[in-house]
This record gives sequence, C-alpha cells and structure tokens, in this order.
Amino acid sequence: MDDLETHEHDVIVIGAGGAGLRAAIEASTQGVSVGLICKSLLGKAHTVMAEGGVAAALANTDSRDNWQVHFRDTMRGGKMLNNWRMAQIHAQEAPERVNELEEWGALFDRTADGRILQRNFGGHRYPRLAHVGDRTGLEMIRTLQNHGIHQGFEVYMECTVTHLFKDGGRIAGAFAYWRDTGRFVLFRAKAIVLATGGIGKAYTVTSNSWEYTGDGHALAFRTGADLIDMEFVQFHPTGMIWPPSVRGILVTEGVRGEGGVLKNSEGERFMFNYVPEMFQGEYAESEEEAQRWLGGDKSARRPPELLTRDVVSRAIRSENLAGRGSPHGGVYLDIASQQDAEFIKRKLPSMYHQFKQLGDVDITRQPMEIGPTCHYVMGGVRVDAETAHSTVPGLFACGEVAGGMHGANRLGGNSLSDLLVFGRRAGKSAVEYAKSQSSAPEIDADEVAQAEREDLAPFEGRGDENPYALLQDLQKCMETYAGIVRTRADLQQGLEELAGLQQRLARVTVEGTRQYNPGWHYALDLHNMLTVSVAIATAALNREESRGAHSRLDFPDSLPDMEKFNLTLTYRDGQLECRREPRPEMPDELKQLIEVGPGELTADDVAPRFERRRGF
Ligand code: FUM
Repeated sequence: MDDLETHEHDVIVIGAGGAGLRAAIEASTQGVSVGLICKSLLGKAHTVMAEGGVAAALANTDSRDNWQVHFRDTMRGGKMLNNWRMAQIHAQEAPERVNELEEWGALFDRTADGRILQRNFGGHRYPRLAHVGDRTGLEMIRTLQNHGIHQGFEVYMECTVTHLFKDGGRIAGAFAYWRDTGRFVLFRAKAIVLATGGIGKAYTVTSNSWEYTGDGHALAFRTGADLIDMEFVQFHPTGMIWPPSVRGILVTEGVRGEGGVLKNSEGERFMFNYVPEMFQGEYAESEEEAQRWLGGDKSARRPPELLTRDVVSRAIRSENLAGRGSPHGGVYLDIASQQDAEFIKRKLPSMYHQFKQLGDVDITRQPMEIGPTCHYVMGGVRVDAETAHSTVPGLFACGEVAGGMHGANRLGGNSLSDLLVFGRRAGKSAVEYAKSQSSAPEIDADEVAQAEREDLAPFEGRGDENPYALLQDLQKCMETYAGIVRTRADLQQGLEELAGLQQRLARVTVEGTRQYNPGWHYALDLHNMLTVSVAIATAALNREESRGAHSRLDFPDSLPDMEKFNLTLTYRDGQLECRREPRPEMPDELKQLIEVGPGELTADDVAPRFERRRGF
C-alpha cells in the first residue's frame, strides 16, 4: 500500500456531471479540501442530454405558476411514489438555484422584457423550463465548470472508482484506476458524495454514453447502502432510430414543447387516443384546441403530446403493435407542419443539425422518425431528503444516482433542477459530516490488496469470455425482459439469464496491457451493470401492479395499496433482499395541494391558502 499513489481529502465527490460539480462547489466554499473524480473528461456528462430546459417555477412565462403547482405536477408525474419531502424541497429551491446559475454566468433565452424564458414540457402544467435553445444541459455544465474551477477543488480526470472502503461502518475512501495508464490510485476521505449518474448502458437502445454503467448504484449497494425504486426506468419517447448507428440519441422533448406533434404511419395524431383517466380534463381533446393552446390561448388545454414520458412511450409501442408504426419501429415527430423554418432553427438548433448531419433529414421540411430510448433511472441510493445522506455514515448521493425524488416517473427538466438542489445539499451535508469526525478513518491494507486482485482478475486468463459479447448479451436481456413493458414470466427469465451472465463474467478474459484498455474497463464495468440489472429485475418482479414507468402486462392496474410503500433493496451477506418500505405520511397541507382540482390550481388561490395553513 505504501507504493500506491494516494490522495487525501476531507470530501471526495465521485462523478463530475451537474450534480457532482454542484456538490464540489458547495463543499469547497465551506473551506475544506475537496477532490472531484471524473470517469471521463471534465464536462462530458449525461447532464448535457437534458437539452430542453431546467424546471423551476419562476413564473416568468405564466404568472400562475408557483412551487406548489410544481410540487403537485412532480408528485402526480411520479404517480405519488416520490419522497414527498424531496419533491417539496426541490420545487421550493429550484428557482433560487436557477437564478444563482444565472449569476454565475449561465445564458438563457429571454422573454420580451428580459427575464428567463420558460417553455412547456410533458407533465408540467405551465411553461416552466428555463432554457437556452435545445442546449440547456450543456450550458449548465459549462457554467458549473467555469465557476467550479475557481473554487480550489482538485480534479481527477479519466479515473474510474471500483471499490469503496469503510472503517468500522463509516466511509473511509475509494480505490480507482487511471483509464490511460491502468495504474491504481487510493483516495482517503472522511465523506464521499456519489454523483455518478445512471445505468443506461445496461440497455441496447439508450441516450446514455459509455460512462453510465451504474457505478455509483453498485458501489453504494455493495458498501451496504439501500437502493429504492429500482423498478422504475425511464424510456424517453423520442430518440433517433435511423440510421442504426445513431439509434438512441436523444431528440429533445423541447420539440414537442415548441409545438411538434406525433403521428403514426396513417398520418393520425394518435396521442389523442391515449389520455389516461387521471389526466382527462387537462389535455386537449381535439387538434383545434391543441392549436389554440399553441397560439397562446391560456384557456385551451395542453396537447396530449405533452403527457408524461411513460404514457407517450407506451403509446408509441402500442401504435407499432397495431401495425401503425414507422418503417424502423417508431413513429413520426413532426414540427415542420407546425412552425416555420426560422422558428425551428432558432429554437431547436441542435436538433436541426443533429438530423441534418446524422440522418440527412431536414426537420424544417420533413418529419423525424423517432422511438423510445432508455434515458434515466428513477431508482437509486436511498437518501435522507434534507441531507442527501445514505444509510452508510459518510456516504452521500445526489442527482440520478439518488432515488426517491422522482417516484415512478420523472418529469422532463426536473433532473436538472434536482441536481442543482440536491447537489448543493449533498456538498453542504458532506462537509458538516466530515467536520464532525474527530479522527480520520483508516483503510485496511488487506482490503486494498483484495480490491487490486479483483480488478486485475480479467488479465488472468480465467476463461474465454469476451467482455464485449457479454455486454451485448446483458443489454439484450434487459431490453427484452425488463423494458417498457414487463411480465412475471419475462422477469423470471431475465433474472435467470442474468445469473448465467454472472457466471460468465467470472470467466471474462481481456487481452493486452493495462494501458488504455477498453476491454478491461468494460470487464470491470460489467460487475456494476449486472448488479443494477439484477436490482431492476428483482424490484420489477416484486411490484405486481403498473405505475409510471413500470408497466406490467399481467398486472395492468395501479393498486391503491401499492402506493403506500417503496421497494427497498439491501445487499446482506452476499444476498439481495427486497422489502416493502412504508412511505412516510404526507402532511395534510401537501396532500391537499395534490388533490385540489386542476382548474383551481393558480397562484391566486392555492398559494395563499397554503401559506395560511403553514402560518407564513
Ligand atoms: O428531452 C429533453 O430535453 C430531456 C430532458 C430531461 O431528461 O430532463
């Protein structure tokens, strides 16, 4: 261990997307030593794939908006399974976090009178997404990065963490390798914040890039933290599907927010046929009404293309099953017939270039062929709503790797506000925790040696399994058995195949040296992908109902009793335990916010009533 490159910080943040950067900024401003570890290069993060905007009730575009309506939309979008306190904190603090970002130099599109412009998105009652064209996540990363590098934290790029260490129950550090040299490195820390993002690479068709292999989920789980809501995986309805090389790349929901419509192969706007009972009365029943809404008529109801992502993705699947899909298994997204070319290029510049360059499609004249793509996991590390502290002392989680905030389905744009709100809270709480530790934790040398042996095992020629073949089989398994719709038989089959893949993983052999060896990197990532895949399939098998992004063909209804708990997974003595965790009771004043009829929810009536009840 003495020869091992070692770094020591009070707080280590693993993951340098929006959540990690925000956590590192906050921790640094509290005056402690902070290290930020990125698997990739700084700034390359899935945050940029939230293109259409960051959700915050600024009420700039529609004065009827307020945090109460945002809270209500988030809970209803999450099918009431959200950690209500997280949803409340999120809705209350999001505006402050967005304004802060603007102070740090973020550029946004503007209203005529110079305020931050907000656009419509699925499930949000009012135009709520602060945006800059269709590059909002990118602008946020740019701003956080520019602001962050002046805060004094140390950045470790192209470094992958494979193990976490504890000292008598509390977190003590992390073991990692440099992706370029393959050499190992040890990080000692009093507190660790996980901000590693999602698990999308466990599926064949995904908007996620190579980094998103569930590392933080698996690290936390193996270290003894609970995971919750893992059955809920979000399939964004609009990913590119043609040509095959670009399948899965995101087509922002901003296209529909700016008036784009979905059509089947018969030219029909099929979403009118899929409005769920829960939302009837909120969405337009005719094209004419939807057009009035587009023209700015505030009394008109929203078009059904702006239903939540779970509903739209299932509708696209149904159209295909009914033989009304597009040639490559999707449907058409058409903005050309709704807006003029200048508007499209101004509002959606990246989409214009993306389709032109990758698909030879001019979206100002032609419809886009699109289909669902795995985009986000609602499930993650179970954390305390106030502090983002996991059940392991000293281990914190924020952003996509944390569970609870989004319940059974996330609303678009809520990921960006989530990572700002809870990134800040996680950074702050990690510092408070680190300062409360009277002594630095110790790392056991035997555990370090064991981590090193495990990471080098793929070089030992244990068998003839190839990591890329295994990766492909894992993705196919998850896509087939734990995708947009599930059944008991499918999930059981999926779990059986995952067990087989687990055995094959023990026989994976990689060629070459440790220097920039992507085969070796995937061999290690596969441990994490398998861990999260088993967690997803197990939770999905245990939730015998349909709710949000979890759709069981054998249990098509949402059951009121199942709303009362989250499924929690724990790893104990090498075994995965799945149990029902009762959800904390929501205070009456919040319950009322959700129950109030949609027509009544305005800043003028609901907010004052709420404030009165709360006594402020
Ligand atoms: O469609 C989008 O722009 C994605 C946004 C999000 O996932 O929040």
